[in-house]
Amino acid sequence: MSTTIARLREALYAADYTYDAVAALIGPTAQAALGRNETTPGLRVTTGGSPIETLTRIWLLQATVSEQDAERALPGLVDDLCAAGILERSISEVAARVDLRPYGTDGTGDERSGNLWVASDLTPGLDGGPQRVGPDHVLGISPAATSLAELTVRAPVGRALDLGTGCGVQSLHLADHVEHVVATDVNARALWLTEVNAELNGIPTGPENRIDIRNGSFFEPVAGELFDLIVTNPPFVISPATGERLVYRDSGLPGDRVVEHIVRTIPKHLRPGGTGQILANWAIQKGQAWDERLAGWMVDGGCDAWVVQREVLDLPSYVELWLKDAGLHGTPDYYTRYDTWLSWFDEQGVEAVGFGWINLRAAGAAVPDLRLEEWRWEVEQPLGTENDAHFDRVATLRALGNDALLASRPRLRHDVVQETFGAVGAEDPHRIVLRQQLGMRRARQADTVAAALAGVCDGDLTLAQSLAAIGELVGTVDLEARLAEVRELVAEGFLELDTPVG
Ligand SMILES: C[S@@+](CC[C@H](N)C(=O)[O-])C[C@H]1O[C@@H](n2cnc3c(N)ncnc32)[C@H](O)[C@@H]1O
Repeated sequence: MSTTIARLREALYAADYTYDAVAALIGPTAQAALGRNETTPGLRVTTGGSPIETLTRIWLLQATVSEQDAERALPGLVDDLCAAGILERSISEVAARVDLRPYGTDGTGDERSGNLWVASDLTPGLDGGPQRVGPDHVLGISPAATSLAELTVRAPVGRALDLGTGCGVQSLHLADHVEHVVATDVNARALWLTEVNAELNGIPTGPENRIDIRNGSFFEPVAGELFDLIVTNPPFVISPATGERLVYRDSGLPGDRVVEHIVRTIPKHLRPGGTGQILANWAIQKGQAWDERLAGWMVDGGCDAWVVQREVLDLPSYVELWLKDAGLHGTPDYYTRYDTWLSWFDEQGVEAVGFGWINLRAAGAAVPDLRLEEWRWEVEQPLGTENDAHFDRVATLRALGNDALLASRPRLRHDVVQETFGAVGAEDPHRIVLRQQLGMRRARQADTVAAALAGVCDGDLTLAQSLAAIGELVGTVDLEARLAEVRELVAEGFLELDTPVG
């Protein structure tokens, strides 16, 4: 296979089948239509028969092309690509057997093309076609895959694990800043596509090379191994066991046990200082706060944890989403499946489903810091740097006693602005909000003392001096409460300390 894929890579270069060139070829309207699974606008603007048009028609729009056009775009390669399972041929026509598209990324990507190429299974449901896929279907670049890629801490490290690699998209990103990536999956087709994608992007594979592709379930293929970074977008759909399983989304474990298992096991595979990042669904049980339940999975791991619940779905919305994803909407047993799923949720005591991010850091603290919060507002992406900074702030604060905190010289982060609300013409605002423009884009209500403090924190005065000056203006300042508040302001990134990580 390797020479065929290497030659394919050269043909993709030669045709300039790159993200920017394809975007320019089809334009934003056709691209938006494709985002809605509609190919007609794209087909209308790719009729010229040039190699880039042909490749776009075959792999992005998944239309058949003539044998002559295919040969012109892929000289001497069509037979080999058919043999490799990348294309298929019918009488005088050629069509795709996989989706293969350029993927524009920030910073990562091939030096010559400036992008990555990613092959995955064909896109289901194009132009209203069948949505149903086989049990071993390999997802392409889904919104979840992109979210995890944007959340990932991108500091250069030695070893990373991409658990449940699918088409290998996370591993392709990791290969840019990690010396050795282990990519695992239980789906042989996923492992094959990961191999194809590594080769297409010129990344060597194998136990001694940049990406080591391994077959096996969860942590079995990496027993006893440690990593600096573990990322996973696991098969996290919470559904009743029906005997049917789409491996890209169903783990085969009951409820959200797959996520619990991964959260409880990651700490055993992290090197000191290492980071684990998981994208997941979790069940919200009747009578139990979601954050208490998830914290229970983390208390014994010894890792600092930062969990952000981004979305809560009511049960009918959740069931509809995943039944439609499986192409079951409108089928004769749709009602029965829907009803069975809701009954099962009832039996399990589930009242809603949460979605979000779980970040773990092996900080080696005697008492780990567990921060579980709901934040549904838009954040600045990519958020990897902010994830890293969060754990650094936690470590700094942990090492800093109150005396040291008072002697520190905090600085208001440069992107924080103040918003005031109140009656028009009133002397004093009714409410003051400090708002970040970057990172998590947090907003936090502040009283006049906290707002004044934020205003004077310019990195020159010590915290003790600032609090004393404000105390003179407003009377007494409750030192203990203000120190706790400053810790929160630092933890959330409103105030920065020039203190090294403890
Ligand atoms: C949602 S897909 C994620 C694919 C890719 N990492 C991404 O970010 O798009 C989940 C992947 O986990 C794999 N998987 C399912 N069960 C697994 C298991 N027990 N161990 C390892 N991987 C598994 C599936 O085959 C699938 O490729």
